[in-house]
Amino acid sequence: MRFAWRGEVTDDELVALTHSHGGTSQAGWWDRVRPHSLGWVTARIEEMLIGFVNVAWDGGDHAFLIDTKVRPDQQRRGIGTELVHIAALHAKEAGCEWLEVDFDDPLAPFYYDACGFAPTQAGLLHLPDLHVVEPS
Ligand SMILES: CC(C)(COP(=O)(O)OP(=O)(O)OC[C@H]1O[C@@H](n2cnc3c(N)ncnc32)[C@H](O)[C@@H]1OP(=O)(O)O)[C@@H](O)C(=O)NCCC(=O)NCCS
Repeated sequence: MRFAWRGEVTDDELVALTHSHGGTSQAGWWDRVRPHSLGWVTARIEEMLIGFVNVAWDGGDHAFLIDTKVRPDQQRRGIGTELVHIAALHAKEAGCEWLEVDFDDPLAPFYYDACGFAPTQAGLLHLPDLHVVEPS
């Protein structure tokens, strides 16, 4: 098992990893997202990509964890926890003070208990549902 910060990873590998756990991903996604990333962590067994997490940021002291993924046949072996830990260490090293994440309720044991996040209030807007007021 090899973990790497900002390790080489292709769009095709990330699409395959996303599909492996039933997620949806469009070809070209990573190529569009990567320039906005502080960094990312990859996990590989030999050459195969089996885990990934991306760290977006505001250019200052806030970093945002997104797209944590581990291949289903490798889950519950501590890989997700290690990916997040490495991401957090590098966000700290980059000068960030806060690392944020949002997730659905069933993943609370992963982010709170295994990864050490504290609960906080947060808000979310689904922008496609936003009512656009046309100027009169
Ligand atoms: C969430 C995910 C990344 C966790 O990866 P993982 O390598 O299996 O996590 P770990 O082995 O480090 O888990 C550590 C602990 O977190 C908790 N945990 C992990 N996955 C969990 C899940 N799906 N539901 C609830 N708790 C979970 C467990 O307490 C686990 O310890 P245990 O195995 O001794 O019970 C993985 O399940 C995944 O890729 N899911 C699909 C994509 C996804 O939903 N990503 C999250 C986006 S916010």
